[in-house]
Amino acid sequence: MKKSIRTFLKHPTKDNSNRSANPAVIRASTILFNSMQELYQHEKKIKKNQTISHYSYGRYGSSTTIELENILKELEQAYHVFLTGTGFGGVALAIMSLCRPGDELLVSDNVYGPTKEISEKLLSEFKVKAKFYNPDSFNDLKNKVSKKTKMILVENPGSNTFEFQDLAKITSLAKKKKIFTFLDNTWGTPLYLKPLKIGFDMSFSSATKYFSGHSDAMGGSLAVNKKVFKKIMFFYKLSGYRMSADEAYLIIRGLRTLDTRLNQHYENTKKVINFLKSHKKIKEILYPYKPSSKNYKLWKKYYSGATGLFSIVIKSKKKSSVIKFINSLELFGIGYSWGGFESLALLQELKSRKKNEYIQGRKYYRFDDNEHIVRLHIGLEDPKDLINDLKISLRYIK
Ligand SMILES: Cc1ncc(COP(=O)(O)O)c(C=O)c1O
Repeated sequence: MKKSIRTFLKHPTKDNSNRSANPAVIRASTILFNSMQELYQHEKKIKKNQTISHYSYGRYGSSTTIELENILKELEQAYHVFLTGTGFGGVALAIMSLCRPGDELLVSDNVYGPTKEISEKLLSEFKVKAKFYNPDSFNDLKNKVSKKTKMILVENPGSNTFEFQDLAKITSLAKKKKIFTFLDNTWGTPLYLKPLKIGFDMSFSSATKYFSGHSDAMGGSLAVNKKVFKKIMFFYKLSGYRMSADEAYLIIRGLRTLDTRLNQHYENTKKVINFLKSHKKIKEILYPYKPSSKNYKLWKKYYSGATGLFSIVIKSKKKSSVIKFINSLELFGIGYSWGGFESLALLQELKSRKKNEYIQGRKYYRFDDNEHIVRLHIGLEDPKDLINDLKISLRYIK
């Protein structure tokens, strides 16, 4: 009987040799063989079917990382999953595997800062040109496609400003033009959206976030279809990207409760937003929380759930008072990353796009004067306490 993905996540791996409900953490550099003949046989098998097992040497993984690959393969409905030591490694792996001198890379303007930086700054040194399109305009994307476009890189929803795009339109255009497609799906996770099913060639998640869920591990997961597999495997092996067995174990452990945690993040987020939505200093909440929210329809069309990360747009003439609001929050940590058990708050500086300021700058998002974007991650605390904390600290905004 085919089991649901919720059940699958509770039972993906056992270590029968140790009678443990969890897999063993196999830290390995050298993998031992009984004879040279066995080693040759093994390598022959790997060459024949690279998607099944490639641990003839620790750089290509151990049984623990392969357990994780197999879980994610099922979750993503992927041909293969490449694991990297950080989420960003997975983004770099996709780009560096597929883009070559003379190519163009079309990137959504709202992608994660370092994704923008590698596209705009590093790739130009390799004669790959990055073009940024307006995430709110499919026509803009279409008009920027050229004969040289090798890959379209989308993040849905976008970092900090949370625009949702019409994903199937993008994949259908790309297929016609023979362009590779990549989706950063860290926000929705493959539990709520399966990018490969919509036609993307690559589905990426920073495993550091919801997969691990406990703010104590880093990793990336690049799930791919058959079309791009060989090219990515070629670069993966030669670049030395890998995930450690310890991180893989923590991520396997995190995945067991992914569905339960995401449900709770969503329930808490709805309650917090219900409080924030009528606050007079908050001009807008960038999250699909009601049918009239921007992009609600696009979210509903593609996602079977929502998670705990969103931004609020605060209207204030005094930026220092917005900073005071953040500083005075008791239960919201101030720091990078998200997707763990805990609530976080961060002021996002997206306005300026000075020369050499690649990381956060936005070309298309329209800011009014005196608007400030604060990104909140709603954790697993009691939402009543989070609301109280916000209520007290919002008073500082002038
Ligand atoms: C949307 C998104 N993609 C990719 C990354 C990079 O992941 P990592 O921090 O695991 O390198 C992040 C990190 O914040 C992110 O928010």
